[in-house]
Amino acid sequence: MSLTTQVQPVRLKIEDVHISFGQTKVLEGIHLDIKPGEFFSFLGPSGSGKSTLLRAIAGFGPMPKGKILINDEDIIPLSPWQRDVGMVFQNYALWPHLTVRKNVAFGLEERRVLKAEIAARVEEALDMVGLAHLAGRRPSQLSGGQQQRVALARTIVVRPRLLLLDEPLSNLDANLRVQMRADIRKLQRKLKLTTIFVTHDQEEANTISDRMAVLDKGIIQQVGTPMELYDYPVNQFVAHFLGTTNMIEGKVSSRNGKIVFAGRDGLVFSLPSPVDGDKGAVIFRPQTVLVNPESAPDAVVRLQGIVESLEFLGSTVRYRVKVKNSSILAEENHQRGKKIYHEGEEVQLVIPEKQILFIRS
Ligand SMILES: Nc1ncnc2c1ncn2[C@@H]1O[C@H](COP(=O)(O)OP(=O)(O)OP(=O)(O)O)[C@@H](O)[C@H]1O
Ligand SMILES: [Mg+2]
Repeated sequence: MSLTTQVQPVRLKIEDVHISFGQTKVLEGIHLDIKPGEFFSFLGPSGSGKSTLLRAIAGFGPMPKGKILINDEDIIPLSPWQRDVGMVFQNYALWPHLTVRKNVAFGLEERRVLKAEIAARVEEALDMVGLAHLAGRRPSQLSGGQQQRVALARTIVVRPRLLLLDEPLSNLDANLRVQMRADIRKLQRKLKLTTIFVTHDQEEANTISDRMAVLDKGIIQQVGTPMELYDYPVNQFVAHFLGTTNMIEGKVSSRNGKIVFAGRDGLVFSLPSPVDGDKGAVIFRPQTVLVNPESAPDAVVRLQGIVESLEFLGSTVRYRVKVKNSSILAEENHQRGKKIYHEGEEVQLVIPEKQILFIRS
């Protein structure tokens, strides 16, 4: 059986999981349902509990409360090696004195797989990660990206039911990260392997994931596709974590049948439809704000302001515009010859109403 003739991909369910280190609660009330063959990410800042949750799935760390189910079987009572789960650690943890081939073979030798089969599977795994030509080298003779591939080969060669990756790209330079994440994604598709990827990098999570969970302070804040989370964050934390945003805190009230938002710092405008709650914030992304547009859609909010600063980012120009007591960011695509507004110039900002989202607090 080759690595790609996999059995059916598994489903992973997490039900009401709580994890503490002694008295310190690190994860609370975790619920997740990861579909067979899904590429799922845990995204969150340092200390939010991503590694702790991943390690709990692999069977390491404190005993969790709740259930972790693979295809409806609770795996919490099982030891790590009974779970059939492969994990790639952030620091790779390769054997320095063994060759690449031996490093990849290690798990199979421990499982007492027949020699001929080991040779065939190791070769196949090394081929998949593009390292067959370096099989005789030791880890110290490899680049960071190549070592990372060895760690990946070593994990997939044992045909785990579930692949867990803890910030596997964090030691690599920017170009290599981009290339490796595409390679990992391709490999995952080929193997149809349910995979969980941990990262604190929003762009990395966006580009690689089918869906993701955003964690903060040991709690899952939101689960969805990258685009759902970016377009419809449920709270201020998620809105900020997924990218630069304008946010104005304030109150909503109903006046003469209109829904009016009154910002703390003097901005007042109407909202297109009734919202849930009356206290919170409106958010809108900088690239949805138009600066002195020649034409605009019908339903818009118009704000008059003064340019405070501009940043040229190459593909875009980012303006910071003072409107009443708020600073609003507007980001415009740049092309040669496009009109630029300078510090002190008066501009009109136009925000299509449907780009404005109210988030209750
Ligand atoms: N062995 C331990 N004993 C006590 N507390 C721990 C232990 N390991 C982790 N923690 C705490 O648990 C919390 C979550 O840690 P975890 O390693 O899961 O975070 P993370 O999201 O993976 O962060 P990072 O992005 O920095 O890797 C942190 O506050 C951390 O200090
Ligand atoms: Mg971690």
